[in-house]
Amino acid sequence: MEDLRRAAKRRIPHFVWEYLDSATGSEATQRRNRQMLDRILFRPAVLKGAIKPDLSTRFLGRTYPLPLGIAPVGMSGLIWPRAEALLADHAAAAGLPYGLSTVASRTPEEIGPHCGDQGWFQLYPPGDPEMRRDMLARVRRAGFHTLVITVDIPAPSRRERQLKGGLTQPARLTPRLVAQSMLCPRWSLGMLRAGLPRLKFIESYTNQRDVLPSNAHIGYQLRVAPDWDYLAALRDDWQGPLIVKGILDPADAARMDGLGIDAVWVSNHAGRLFDAAPAAIEVLPEIRGATKLPLIFDSGIEAGLDVMRAIALGADFTMMGRGWHYALAAFGRDGLTHLQEMISAEMTASMAQIGAHRLGDLKGALYRAE
Ligand SMILES: Cc1cc2nc3c(=O)[nH]c(=O)nc-3n(C[C@H](O)[C@H](O)[C@H](O)COP(=O)(O)O)c2cc1C
Repeated sequence: MEDLRRAAKRRIPHFVWEYLDSATGSEATQRRNRQMLDRILFRPAVLKGAIKPDLSTRFLGRTYPLPLGIAPVGMSGLIWPRAEALLADHAAAAGLPYGLSTVASRTPEEIGPHCGDQGWFQLYPPGDPEMRRDMLARVRRAGFHTLVITVDIPAPSRRERQLKGGLTQPARLTPRLVAQSMLCPRWSLGMLRAGLPRLKFIESYTNQRDVLPSNAHIGYQLRVAPDWDYLAALRDDWQGPLIVKGILDPADAARMDGLGIDAVWVSNHAGRLFDAAPAAIEVLPEIRGATKLPLIFDSGIEAGLDVMRAIALGADFTMMGRGWHYALAAFGRDGLTHLQEMISAEMTASMAQIGAHRLGDLKGALYRAE
C-alpha cells in the first residue's frame, strides 16, 4: 500500500493529494487507527494439513467473494479522472459493493449503470423531507439497492493540510492550483477530457456551483445533523437495506437494534473528523457485544491482515476508502485489480499460517496476551 500511496502522490496535484490523504488536527486519530490495528495478533498454527482458505462471505442476503467493499469518498472524480465510473466498474466486475457518495462528482443516474448489482448509495441527510424523498426516488431508479446514512458529521471539521494545500474558502481554481495541476500531465489531460468534476447531484437541488471540495462546500448547506427522529423518518422513506455509518459508541449501536436498521458501520471516518476519537478497531469488540445487527468496519484498512483483524473482532464486512484511490491514482483501473489481488493473496497466505479455513475461524485464532 505504501508503494501505491507514493506512486499516487507523484501522479496527482498537491492540493488533491492533501484532500485525499489528510486527516483532522494533528492526525493522531489517523495514526491511532494504524497503531491499534497492528496490535491485533493471531496465533500461528502448525501441523494442520493442507489449507485452502475460503474468503467468501454472506452479507445482507448476498454472497461476496471477499468481505471488502469500496467506501464512499466525496469528489472521487477530482482524485482521478472518471474515478466514480472506474470504481463502480471494478466493483461490478469483482462482485463487491461500491458506495457512491452524495457529494460524488457524478450523479446516481450516471453511475448506477456502472455498478451492476453492487450499488450502495451514501446519503448526507438533506433537511427538507421533500428533497430527501426525491433524492431517494432517483437513487432507487438508478439501481442502488442499499442506502447508507452517514451520521458522524454534526459539523464540518478542519483539515489543516487540505487548507494549506491551496483550497480556498469558497473553493476557487487559483493560479496556484493550476500550476500544481500542470506538474501532473496525465491527471490534467484526463480532467480536460472528463470535464472538471463538480458536485453534480447536489447541484441539481441548488443554483450554486462548486468545483472543488472545501470545508464548507454546498453539500453542507443542504444537509442537516441528523437525530434519532430523522433516522426513523428515513427508515419510513426507504424500502430496502439501511445502514448507519459512523458509529463508535456501543450505546448507539445497542439503540439501533429495534429501529429496523439493517447494519451498523463502525468508523471514525479515517480520522478526518475528530482527533481525540478512539481507533475504530478499539471499539469494535464492545460494539459487537452491544448489538446483534451485522457490523461493517472501516478506518485504517491497508492490507489483507487488517480485514482479518476486523472480522476476528466481530465485523461481518469491511470497507476501504483511501486505499482504492491510491491504487487508482497510481495505476488507473489496473491498480484496483492489483490491490484486490494483493489483499486476497495476503489473506489466503495469512489464514493458512493460522490454520483458518474460513472467515468464521478467525476469531478463534486471535492471540490473546494475558
Ligand atoms: C477523501 C475522502 C472523502 C470522503 N468522503 C466521504 C463521503 O462523502 N461520505 C462518507 O460517508 N464518507 C466519506 N469518507 C470516509 C470513507 O467513507 C471511509 O469511512 C474512510 O475513508 C475509511 O477509512 P480508510 O480511508 O482508512 O479506508 C471520505 C474519506 C476520504 C479519505
